[in-house]
Amino acid sequence: MSHQAIYRKFRPKTFDDVIGQEHVTNTIKNQILNNNIAHAYLFSGIRGTGKTSTAKIFARAVNCINSKDGNPCNECEICKSILDETNLDVIEMDAASNNSVEDIRDLREKVKFMPVRSKYKVYIIDEVHMLSKGAFNALLKTLEEPPEHLLFILATTEPHKIPATILSRCQRFDLKRLLVNDIVNNMKKICSEIDIEVEEKALKLIAGNADGAMRDALSILDRCITFGYKKIDYEMVLNLLGTVNYETIIKTAEAIVDKNIENVMNIIDDVLNQGKELTLFLEDLIVHFRNLLIVKTTKSSNNILKTIDEVVESLKKQSSKLDTDEIIMYIEELSETQLECKRALNPRVLFEAKLIKIMQNKNINDVSSLIKRIEKLETAIRDGNVTLSSANSINKNTPIKRQEVKLKKENTKKPNKTTDDSIREIKQVSSDTNNSVEQIKNSWSQILKMIKSEKISLYAVLRECTPVKIKDNTAFFEFDTKFKFHMAAADKDENKAEFKKVLNNCLGTNYEIKFIQENENIDDNEEQIAEEMEKKVIEVFGEDLVEIE
Ligand SMILES: Nc1ncnc2c1ncn2[C@@H]1O[C@H](COP(=O)(O)OP(=O)(O)OP(=O)(O)O)[C@@H](O)[C@H]1O
Ligand SMILES: [Mg+2]
Ligand SMILES: [Zn+2]
Repeated sequence: MSHQAIYRKFRPKTFDDVIGQEHVTNTIKNQILNNNIAHAYLFSGIRGTGKTSTAKIFARAVNCINSKDGNPCNECEICKSILDETNLDVIEMDAASNNSVEDIRDLREKVKFMPVRSKYKVYIIDEVHMLSKGAFNALLKTLEEPPEHLLFILATTEPHKIPATILSRCQRFDLKRLLVNDIVNNMKKICSEIDIEVEEKALKLIAGNADGAMRDALSILDRCITFGYKKIDYEMVLNLLGTVNYETIIKTAEAIVDKNIENVMNIIDDVLNQGKELTLFLEDLIVHFRNLLIVKTTKSSNNILKTIDEVVESLKKQSSKLDTDEIIMYIEELSETQLECKRALNPRVLFEAKLIKIMQNKNINDVSSLIKRIEKLETAIRDGNVTLSSANSINKNTPIKRQEVKLKKENTKKPNKTTDDSIREIKQVSSDTNNSVEQIKNSWSQILKMIKSEKISLYAVLRECTPVKIKDNTAFFEFDTKFKFHMAAADKDENKAEFKKVLNNCLGTNYEIKFIQENENIDDNEEQIAEEMEKKVIEVFGEDLVEIE
């Protein structure tokens, strides 16, 4: 049989056939029934959601001599002539190729004439955002004083490119992304009509990949059918899409979360050896973490999830091991990787390097690990072997300066002092001026260059910060809040030591280094930490047992 693409063959013919856009179709049907249609409409929305289809239905519905409930009958002479494109009163224009002022002037000349055989002369202008500025102006003139018999239906995927003057003259309808279930059901119906057997799981995979666009889903289905198979199954769709199955994605995510570098590298190797696309794999991985986030944060998530029911249980299981911040961190890092991979000459190497970095990244947002550390601290204090070296590094292995936290024998009034040497140092604010930071600022590009030659990964991180201040021989470097992971990387002991070495060598100084987040007040921060520490110790021992010097 000569093959007509499924998405053309199954174009909705009435408003009621248009799936998932009832907010548009019901309104228009009512307007038709009440005879109060406007002269210009704009349909916007992502590709393949029914803009052109709805426009065509509209063109027939307003002219149909036998319309039912606002729908075209598709059988009367007028409907038929519009369907077979012989009706001269319905004009479809692709603005992508007819976008000049002349094209629109020509149109303006023609709209003056009455329709030949229909009630309305209908102009469907697709991709209307492609019109030139002059063409928009010419169109505006017509829209300002439209003749009674005229109906304009504009369609676009990019409504933001349309001048406000045009927008304000149109009734605007936004077509929505379609739900996975709606797409699946439509494909099921089509498959049964054309007598193709298909696994439900396969349809869900297709629908998940269509990203809300019915046409994309139908195109994938079409490709499966043209492969010549009578039965479409999950594996086949996987192969066709070049994606990996969800078990692999779940396994990869698990290995990433477990920071099992070896496993992750092996999986990547397998996947790529099977000829799968790295970009699709990465995309699936991001969608997987997104699904984890949805499962974690919403109750009735099945509709929002871009996956099949079988996966939901695994998602629930995996998401229970992670907290929301952690999942968000993975999404952010992987999305950044995805962007960079698109530009990389060797995306695989970059992908692997980035994954290792993600796995090694000390997660500063990991609330659960912080809680664990506080619990450890509390037990340590309770057991009497308190090990604190500074307020910033709560570490069991560093011996505490015993004289700082004393257990009082009797009740004495608590003197208002802080707990830690380093804090005390900061509090004895020296009169260092900010001037000396200029020295760093002036040499900053030089210092970065030296770091680049020493350790390029450190350079990549440090270039996102700026020297802001020197205080008590500590140089402060500030990161924008969006670079908190960069800051965490820079703050790693070996990185900090390397940076300190280069900086001091370069300037002949002996600065300590501290990284801060944008807008973080240095003094407040230290004081706050001190206060929190104080509170913590008092909480554990009780106020009357603790004396803080
Ligand atoms: N809401 C929908 N209900 C049923 N089928 C749809 C729907 N949207 C799209 N389709 C299917 O996709 C095909 C293309 O739809 P249509 O041309 O109307 O999309 P569009 O929004 O105009 O896309 P584009 O922005 O790419 O022009 C239709 O022929 C139909 O098979
Ligand atoms: Mg279209
Ligand atoms: Zn009709």
